[in-house]
Order: sequence, then C-alpha cells, then structure tokens
Amino acid sequence: MRQAGRYLPEYRKIRSQVDFLTLTKTPELAAEVTLQPIRRFEMDAAILFSDIMTPVEGMGVEMEFNPGPVVKAPLRTAAQVDALKVPKSGENAPFVAEAIKIINRELPVSVPLIGFAGAPFTLFCYLVEGRGSKTFSQAKSFLFAEPQLSRIILEKLTDVMIGYLQAQVDAGAKALMIFDSWAGLLAERDYKTFAYPSICRIIKNLSHLGVPLIYFPNQGATLLGTVKNCGAHVVGVDWRTSLSVARNILGPDMAVQGNLDPMALFASKQDLGSRIDDILCEIGQKNGHIFNLGHGIDKNTDPDRVAFLVDRVREKSQKPLS
Ligand code: CP3
Repeated sequence: MRQAGRYLPEYRKIRSQVDFLTLTKTPELAAEVTLQPIRRFEMDAAILFSDIMTPVEGMGVEMEFNPGPVVKAPLRTAAQVDALKVPKSGENAPFVAEAIKIINRELPVSVPLIGFAGAPFTLFCYLVEGRGSKTFSQAKSFLFAEPQLSRIILEKLTDVMIGYLQAQVDAGAKALMIFDSWAGLLAERDYKTFAYPSICRIIKNLSHLGVPLIYFPNQGATLLGTVKNCGAHVVGVDWRTSLSVARNILGPDMAVQGNLDPMALFASKQDLGSRIDDILCEIGQKNGHIFNLGHGIDKNTDPDRVAFLVDRVREKSQKPLS
C-alpha cells in the first residue's frame, strides 16, 4: 500500500515542481519516486509509482487529481459508454512500461517490482461518480438502474486492465496487484454479479504469465467466501478483518497480505511495536504471509515510524528461506 507519497519529504520536493499527472507520466520521475522508499527503508518489494486511474485516460476519459481523481465528464449516458475506447496492450500508457524498465535497472536484484491496476468495479465507481465519495451513491444508483450499461463499462474496463497488466509484466514487473478499494460497498450478491466476474477474468487471463497475483478487496470481510475461489495467489486484507479469520475462510492455499491499521503508525513506538508483534504472532511462523498496512498510508505519517515498522517486522519474523 502506497510506499511512496506525501509523507516523504523527498517526494514532496519533486511534487512541488510537477503536478501529480505529470509525475505519473514522466518515466524518469515515476521511477525516482518508486525508488525513494526502497532507498530509505529497504523494503522487500517495490510498488510502481502510478495510479489506478492512469490507464483510464487511454480510454478517452479526461481527468485531474485534486488530490484524488476528478473525472471531467462522469459516465452517465449510453453514448459516453459507447465512446469508451479499449486500447490494446502496450498502446495504453507506454510511459508506464518505460518507468518499469528504468526502475528495474536501479533496483537491487533481490527486490521485485509489483505492478498494479484498479479492479474494474472500483474504476467504475470513480468513472460514474466522477470523484471520491464515502457512499458512491451516484455510481451505485447507476449500477442498479442501468445494469446492462454498467456491465458494458465493466467489461471494457476488464479488457483494458488485462492488457495493461500484461504490458507491465512484459516490461519487467515481477508480481501484480489488483486494488478493489470499493468492493466493500457491495452486498455479496451484487459483488458476485458486478465485481467478482471481472476479477476472475483478469486472473484467468494473466495466470499464464507465472507471476504472483495479489487481489485486495478493501472492506471485503463479508466477501471472502466468494473471493476464495478467484484464483489469486494472495489476498490483501484490510485492518478490520483479523488475518486468522481471513486465513480460515481463504484456506491454506492462498497467502494473506496485511493488515496493520495505517493510523497505528501514529501510536507510541511501544504500542506500535506490540500491534506489529500481535499480527506476526497471530499468523505464526507459517509461510504465506506478506506484512503490509491494511490500507494506504496517511500523508502525515512520520517516516521514522515506517522505518521502525520495517525493522521490527524483520527482527521478529522468520528469515526467508533462500
Ligand atoms: O505506493 C506507491 O508508491 C504506489 C502508488 C499508488 C498511488 N495510488 C499514488 C498516489 C498506488 C498503488 C495508488 C492506488 C490508488 N489510487 C488506489 C487504490 C488503493 C487505495 O488507496 O484504495 C486508489 C483508490 C487511488 C485513487 C486515488 N489517487 C486517491 C483516492 C488519491 C487521493 C489520496 C489522498 O491521500 O487524498 C489519489 C492520489 C494519489 N495517488 C497520491 C499518491 C501518492 C497523492 C497525490 C499527491 O501527490 O498529491
């Protein structure tokens, strides 16, 4: 979850000179910002610096960031849906492939780069609502009022994300993550109808690439019984669900990733330390756990706390078998 970003002074320095979209579209700068947290904290993996909305611009959607995505003309009509382009793999966001190549030249060989995309349902939420929201009531009312049109948007997004993720692996990404930040807005029956089929189709089409596939259904506690069958290698778990509960539902063949509450980084070091230990203890010394935050890092986080977290996890968890 968001390794780079506004909590780092070195990121803020670059951002004071360029806007967010320019940053994501300039390979040298995107690469530099991807590498910043790795230099500072020596995490075990790097995540590409971009945004879930980046490939949507290639579909003909105009947007800006303030600070989250704002879509100039939210999707509301059949004509707009019809006009949505489905660019081919590689043609969409070529600057991302370029950034990945630069990053891999600089990253230590032992540090894999994670590529990512937004899940079609989460992208649908931003495209129809037009901006972030707590309830996404415009997007959800459109979903229920116009299920056929919604399905067309979701299918187009699925086609584009398959190509976009494939292009990231072709360029050198060593694992892929799918962010479904708004999956938890749906009851299980609607998740099964509108969100889950896209996830299954993406995973089915990418399995041959041989890279680990991570799926993060945010606030997805009630969805895990369905998610279990999606075919991902790893499921990201937000901080609200305990890892042992998630693991019991998902079964022994899926790894779990998570799930410290990002706001716990504001606790005293002693309290933070015991929260980290609790997560490690809960999961035991078994394989199949990737330590991570349970959602994105807050912009006011003290980088020193992140360094503390990385050291603590390293010290307390089993050394990887080489
Ligand atoms: O960790 C990394 O370095 C990877 C980069 C990354 C960003 N966004 C950079 C970013 C990743 C993986 C994302 C994913 C993303 N973007 C998601 C899925 C994960 C999640 O948080 O649920 C979503 C929903 C978005 C959409 C988005 N982009 C929002 C809601 C915002 C506003 C965030 C805020 O803190 O208010 C953004 C902007 C954004 N994306 C920033 C960063 C570093 C902050 C922009 C800035 O520099 O001003």
